[in-house]
Amino acid sequence: MRYDFDTIIDRAGTDSIKWENIQSEEDAHNQVRTDRFFGENAAIPMWVADMDFAAPPAVVDALTTRVQHPIYGYTGRSQTYGRAVADWMRTRHNWPIQPEWIVTTPGVVPALAMLIRALLQPGDKVIIQPPVYYPFKMVLEANGIGVVQNPLCADYGRYLMDFDQLAAQTRDPQTKILILSNPHNPVGRVWTRGELTRLAEICRANNMLVISDEIHADLTFTPFIPFGTLDENAIVCTAASKTFNLAGLSNSNIIIPNPSLRKTFEKYLLQNALLDTNLFGRIATETAYTHGADWLDQLLDYLSGTLDFMEEYFAKHIPQIRMIRPEGTYLVWLDCRALGMDSPSLTRFFLDRGRIYLENGAIFGTGGDGFLRMNIAAPRKVVEEALKRMKKVINEL
Ligand SMILES: Cc1ncc(COP(=O)(O)O)c(C=O)c1O
Repeated sequence: MRYDFDTIIDRAGTDSIKWENIQSEEDAHNQVRTDRFFGENAAIPMWVADMDFAAPPAVVDALTTRVQHPIYGYTGRSQTYGRAVADWMRTRHNWPIQPEWIVTTPGVVPALAMLIRALLQPGDKVIIQPPVYYPFKMVLEANGIGVVQNPLCADYGRYLMDFDQLAAQTRDPQTKILILSNPHNPVGRVWTRGELTRLAEICRANNMLVISDEIHADLTFTPFIPFGTLDENAIVCTAASKTFNLAGLSNSNIIIPNPSLRKTFEKYLLQNALLDTNLFGRIATETAYTHGADWLDQLLDYLSGTLDFMEEYFAKHIPQIRMIRPEGTYLVWLDCRALGMDSPSLTRFFLDRGRIYLENGAIFGTGGDGFLRMNIAAPRKVVEEALKRMKKVINEL
């Protein structure tokens, strides 16, 4: 079966955050609604990480069937849920996990926040590697945890970890955890086995726990290595939400092989009465992992085609912007420093003059200014239109 990624689906009236909540960056964060993305002169929203593609038909069918049963009372995990998640990790990522290692939470960011609260004391420190998904820092700061930054180094557009600095940082006994982003949002790196092995060795030598956020793991164009295959103490945050466009269904799987860490986390969830997740989120996750592989393969082909098109377009028509082709994620990191504007000005420039809303790179922290992040998970003609608009306004500069 061929799946359709080309049809433009109107998201008006669905309360989509990506489409309805933004006019400016402040609006985005305060979730202010606007109709700027609909109707005449509509802007193209290419920011928050969800896709303008329909979820796999098998998922829609399973949810529809369940919705038609009109009783939505308290519902436990299905007997087959854990096995479906484990089978996906084994077949897709060659990672043989046990179903009992899986703890479900309503999202990866909530899981990060709760893990930090369950495992750390105020005054402890956590290492992050900016530019990186900004909720990491937000969640740490909100919980009184010190943020230690080990910025990535950019080697001619290829981002690398600074292992020497990291080794020095891990020697501080107050520094207890490193949060890894793999694939790395926003720079799109899929860390290699060599890089991850080195990271694991440094952290192990200093008793540091690694929490690996692998929410984009399925969306990779080069071989992906789950951190859990290299470090059996790591806590790995996964979900079907990015892969199959299910973020509104609030379900993620936190994989914790170490029984003592798992117990601590489960105790925290129990203390906060958070052991249950959403019925529909679990159905969608299980169905996607059981029947969605073919859909995902085709999605990856489609996104690769879009990236090929974009690479050629930027080189030919917008040489002022350097596109850093992602090895994973549908998020493209654009080096706009040659335009001589800071990131908030770049965001405003493209929104006001070009009617495209791109994510301000500066919010990802050190190393992000002068960059924009572009979400390309939309029908290719939408991406083409966005690039045409970018070219036009840059030529008018
Ligand atoms: C690296 C990363 N982690 C977590 C999330 C969000 O996870 P959730 O919606 O499950 O909280 C995102 C969403 O963009 C992300 O890019």
